[in-house]
Amino acid sequence: MVMKIDLRSEFTARPTAAMVEAMVRAAQLPSGFGLREDPTVARLEALAAEKLGKGDALFVPTCMMANQIAIHIRCRPGDVFLTEAEAHVVTSESGAASALSGAMPRPGARAQGVPVHLDGARIFNAATALGRPASDLAELAETVSFNLNKGLCAPPLRSWAFLCCLLGRTSVL
Ligand SMILES: Cc1ncc(COP(=O)(O)O)c(C=O)c1O
Repeated sequence: MVMKIDLRSEFTARPTAAMVEAMVRAAQLPSGFGLREDPTVARLEALAAEKLGKGDALFVPTCMMANQIAIHIRCRPGDVFLTEAEAHVVTSESGAASALSGAMPRPGARAQGVPVHLDGARIFNAATALGRPASDLAELAETVSFNLNKGLCAPPLRSWAFLCCLLGRTSVL
């Protein structure tokens, strides 16, 4: 059987049998109550930090949230942040950076020596296509966000799968 993988979104990828089995097993594991107490989430965060070569990882519901947290960590009201004109944060995040952090995107500008956030929504797909470890692609970034629900067959909840990590040094996160 040929498996078609559509990388656009969680809307188009279905969980594999192995993924469904893993979900069933995970539902039987002990869970935690407080922040960062859930052992399964802690394992995911540790694995994510290792794969991206960063000190720490934080599980968050969506990549947009991870991007906005990354902006909020570094920007103060009145700041601008440099980005591409077609970046998700410009085209699809509804001006959230200005509402939440008072920071405005400035598309197309360049600068040196500023902290870099990598919106790596599909970084593992890119790393696989390039035949390189994802940590190579993330090397220059201070913080990285990535999705687990972009064609990786993570389970959707109704039409949505909420699975994302924000990576960076522990002191930054
Ligand atoms: C490059 C990029 N960044 C961020 C996002 C937002 O992801 P989420 O739906 O998890 O907020 C997407 C969604 O497709 C995306 O393509």
